[in-house]
Amino acid sequence: MIKTRDRVILITGATDGLGRRVAQDLAGSGATVLLHGRTPAKGAAAVREIRAATRNQQLAYYNADLSSLDAVRRLAEEILAHQDRLDVLINNAGIGVGSRRDGRELSRDGFELRFAVNYLAPFLLTHRLLPLLQRSAPARIVNVSSIGQQPIDFDNVMLASSYEGLRAYRQSKLAQVMFTFDLADRLEGTGITVNCLHPATLMSTKMVLDTDYFGGAMTTVEQGAGAVEYLATSPQLAGVSGEYFDGRRQARANRQAYDREARQRLWTLTEQLVGIDGAQASEASAGPNV
Ligand SMILES: NC(=O)c1ccc[n+]([C@@H]2O[C@H](COP(=O)([O-])OP(=O)(O)OC[C@H]3O[C@@H](n4cnc5c(N)ncnc54)[C@H](OP(=O)(O)O)[C@@H]3O)[C@@H](O)[C@H]2O)c1
Repeated sequence: MIKTRDRVILITGATDGLGRRVAQDLAGSGATVLLHGRTPAKGAAAVREIRAATRNQQLAYYNADLSSLDAVRRLAEEILAHQDRLDVLINNAGIGVGSRRDGRELSRDGFELRFAVNYLAPFLLTHRLLPLLQRSAPARIVNVSSIGQQPIDFDNVMLASSYEGLRAYRQSKLAQVMFTFDLADRLEGTGITVNCLHPATLMSTKMVLDTDYFGGAMTTVEQGAGAVEYLATSPQLAGVSGEYFDGRRQARANRQAYDREARQRLWTLTEQLVGIDGAQASEASAGPNV
């Protein structure tokens, strides 16, 4: 992999919390950082502040609400139009568990909101960006998941019954892990690696501070950022793919992530939901097997 200062790194959800911290750290190390957010004014402020703090001029901002698959497609098109390389894609944006009083919410496309934003959006974005990652190989994909994982009930994926914010969040995070494992298999030999992680437990971000599910923060954003940056840039992880990390340590995910049948079922369902089929995906992607 090329030196950090020559790398182009895209971080989704870079306007707040963990993503904002990672964006600043990587900008500080000289990388070209592409920040993504969903509110232009917040994005502009993040770019301004990071530029002032790091003196790095190689920053760009992309706006897209990941609760809309059309917006995800437009985001990918914009990136493909403006960038001629992408060394690292960090799928970090996400919605937390919400509050205990909250009811089920739907995405613009009518899918359960956490499943849509935390899982379907990065699945689609990643697929659309694979050709660019392939041209930049060796390249990396880092999926920011969580230790909070709950098996997917394939009869109730959209949680039309028994909705609970914690469950919705946890199943979306396990779906990210399952996606990571399958994608790693499909990308074998392409020079693109993909790993996922639990960054740190209950970091002091708005996702944690704004909920009544937990009793407040336990760790800092810096702790989680260090782990994300390790997966994104460490030479020690060159060639490592298809792994789940708890912080910087390789770990075991929920049992369902190792169930090939469940993973295949999720992959097939996801292709239908995001509107790509196997043939289209392999045309648009790097390897023959995606
Ligand atoms: N905090 C923890 O303890 C913890 C633990 C394990 C895993 N994680 C994971 O770490 C990642 C970052 O979380 P965080 O703690 O930094 O949370 P955060 O402070 O709430 O930041 C979330 C980021 O995602 C963006 N985002 C949310 N919904 C979006 C949407 N519909 N479209 C586009 N962008 C959207 C937010 O944009 P705005 O700035 O506009 O809100 C923000 O930039 C998440 O994937 C989370 O699941 C966090």
